[in-house]
Amino acid sequence: MSDAPIAIFDSGVGGLTVAAAIAKRLPNERLVYLGDTARLPYGTKSAETVTRYAVQATRSLMRFEPKMIVIACNTASAVALPVLAAAYATIPVVGVVEPGARAAVDASRDGAIAVIATEGTVRGGAYVRAIHALKPDARVVQRACPLFVSLAEEGWTSGPVADLTAERYLSELFAAEEAPDTLVLGCTHFPVLRGPIAQAVGSAVRLVDSAATTAREVDRILAERGLKRATPAAAKFLATDAPERFARIGSLFLGREIAPDQVELVDLTP
Ligand code: DGL
Repeated sequence: MSDAPIAIFDSGVGGLTVAAAIAKRLPNERLVYLGDTARLPYGTKSAETVTRYAVQATRSLMRFEPKMIVIACNTASAVALPVLAAAYATIPVVGVVEPGARAAVDASRDGAIAVIATEGTVRGGAYVRAIHALKPDARVVQRACPLFVSLAEEGWTSGPVADLTAERYLSELFAAEEAPDTLVLGCTHFPVLRGPIAQAVGSAVRLVDSAATTAREVDRILAERGLKRATPAAAKFLATDAPERFARIGSLFLGREIAPDQVELVDLTP
């Protein structure tokens, strides 16, 4: 079982920021990553639809007989984690919201935390609950920033469009006297926009995301169950549309080259 892969999925290339953190922390692990690029974005869709997509993505990944599932998408973690954990009770299912909340609580000096995420994640309030579960007196504000997903998928992670978008979404939130001291990038697409986001909120604000804390959680669970892999193995990538595009833009998120022939086109519709 320790040789089995870790299955990871997201709506697109965003979850590769989480895959990169897992690969960095656990370089021997074999990662199988699925980006549901045909149906992106998840963030503007209903909880029912996102849950259905998450179940289909996981079902498709089960052919690799994974030892763990990582939902590398905040939107899907927020609504589908309990459903997937119940459906696949024999293997651990890890989401990114709780690790993101933990990173925020650890980073914040006075408990004033802002969360930026997709519309779906903001609407469901999963981050607010997860932060309050760890720090009941935290003051949490949220803002949906759906355009960041499009910018990230387009690879426009710096330059005037990214700067203006970040400014428009964020400057007001951080101009107030009682401004948050910590900002959670509550969507796995957002870490590649760290530059423009940091510029818009100012250097006093700490930016956190779920990638490193999720990798730590994955490490902890594998160690606890004696499931760590001993020798390195190549990653595998799957996309539901435009595999060449996935390889090109995905390389930016993963932090290393993905060759187009490493990406398999898959169909999740039953
Ligand atoms: N990357 C996903 C997340 O973390 C969502 C992007 C989208 O499909 O809207 O929420």
